[in-house]
Amino acid sequence: MTISSSRLDELRRSTSLPKHVAIIMDGNGRWALERGLERPAGHKAGADAVREAVEGALHAGVRVLTLFAFSQENWQRPQAEIDALMALLENYIAEEAEALQREGVSVRVLGDLTLLSASARAAVERVEAATTGGTSLDLNVCISYSARAEIVRAARRLAERVARGELVPDRIDDAAFAAELYTAGWPDPDLLIRTSGEMRISNFLLWQVAYSEIHVTPVLWPDFTREDLYAAILEFQQRDRRFGRVSA
Ligand code: IPE
Ligand code: IPE
Ligand code: MG
Repeated sequence: MTISSSRLDELRRSTSLPKHVAIIMDGNGRWALERGLERPAGHKAGADAVREAVEGALHAGVRVLTLFAFSQENWQRPQAEIDALMALLENYIAEEAEALQREGVSVRVLGDLTLLSASARAAVERVEAATTGGTSLDLNVCISYSARAEIVRAARRLAERVARGELVPDRIDDAAFAAELYTAGWPDPDLLIRTSGEMRISNFLLWQVAYSEIHVTPVLWPDFTREDLYAAILEFQQRDRRFGRVSA
């Protein structure tokens, strides 16, 4: 980055940097509609915003960035839109894998990947393999993802361990449960951002956002820049996180 950002300088001065930022990337369709374009044009513009968010997270020193790219419910959209989204996913991976690896970004894709086409799944495996070991940023991309399905899957995995005699039900606690989620090993999101002004969670990380600070911006996802990310982090740094206790 050549232009220095005063927001970036300011947020870095604070001691409370969010370790994990999660983003519900919403508003691509409306962005296209506003311009008289078809919805896939909005998704294409949204892919550029993903680059912005990743760069911004790297500069800000965020350690984990989790992006909601495609929900299980999104499979109910028109087939042409789904095809366009999947083609964009494969393109994004083909174009970005090398740069992500160079920048030390480690990519993981979370969701029910059995629903993806063979070529999309191969692309996912390629980028995960190419970026393993990256240490600057863990980038989780949620595709074909449903938080309820993730929770049900965790419950099933625990039940299977009990059935195999590896676990007694009494030992199932928050930590044991979290260890069976896709996000096992990562801290919960400190900050959850949703673009396009919608005030809902839409089945995203239901378990993990228990104490996340929520930032809703009216900006439509394709217009989201690193400056918007910095603004959200600055606002986060003003919050009083009590976790049910009283202020210090
Ligand atoms: C977010 O944009 C991308 C996906 C959900 C795949 P939308 O496509 O939901 O855009 P809006 O909400 O219709 O504007
Ligand atoms: C949530 O957006 C899913 C993603 C951003 C991938 P949606 O556009 O699917 O959510 P709703 O339908 O507005 O709740
Ligand atoms: Mg939407």
